[in-house]
Amino acid sequence: MSRPLIVAIDGPAGAGKSSVSKLLARRLGFSLVDTGAIYRCVALAARRRNLALDDDAALGSLLATLTITFRVEGEHNHVFLDGVDVSQDIRSPENSLAASQVSSRKVVRDGLLDLQRRLALQAGQGAILEGRDIGTVVFPDADVKFFLFADPGVRARRRYEELFEKGKEQPFANVLNEQQKRDKEDSEREVAPLKPAPDALRVDSSALPLSDVVHLLEARIREVVAARSAR
Ligand code: DC
Repeated sequence: MSRPLIVAIDGPAGAGKSSVSKLLARRLGFSLVDTGAIYRCVALAARRRNLALDDDAALGSLLATLTITFRVEGEHNHVFLDGVDVSQDIRSPENSLAASQVSSRKVVRDGLLDLQRRLALQAGQGAILEGRDIGTVVFPDADVKFFLFADPGVRARRRYEELFEKGKEQPFANVLNEQQKRDKEDSEREVAPLKPAPDALRVDSSALPLSDVVHLLEARIREVVAARSAR
């Protein structure tokens, strides 16, 4: 039995990866692995235990004790930390920043590789993995790779609207500021910095509606599926 088709979707926060990945997974009948949620779970567990986010020894021991699982329920992909649904808790602004910090630690990145690969390889027909280093580090041999990006102002505006819809309005300047901080941390870190894989298809979503981005990526994935089954 061949392995599931692996689709890597990398890019900065706010480029539309989550919405696009969710829709693609549903339309194609593929599994979805939200690798950002995995880093967010580690950050939440570290914060709850009052660990310093740069204490590699403590982070390493922590990783060995955590169980992170996903379950799709209706429209939502829920994430469970040690059996408890933390889908909401992991998305607070404090935890977002903490996730960015723990994700810069090599011990954390190395420790999560196996989990990310396992979750993808246990998929049926295919798996969509969204993250920052899927096409460069987690699956350098992914069957299809995308790098989704957009202007920083557009990305911050999308985040602002999302918070507004959830009743968690914040000044736009704060949202932009926080995004800049995370962009800087994600792209300047030494281990697996955010950068497009050389063989990734780069898609600028600044001026594209969500449906156009989904159609574009879906068409490319279907081409690869067809080429694979013709072999
Ligand atoms: O995609 P997200 O915003 O939920 O990711 C949370 C944090 O984890 C973000 O700061 C980047 C980091 N991350 C990472 O370093 N590598 C990944 N594959 C996924 C996320």
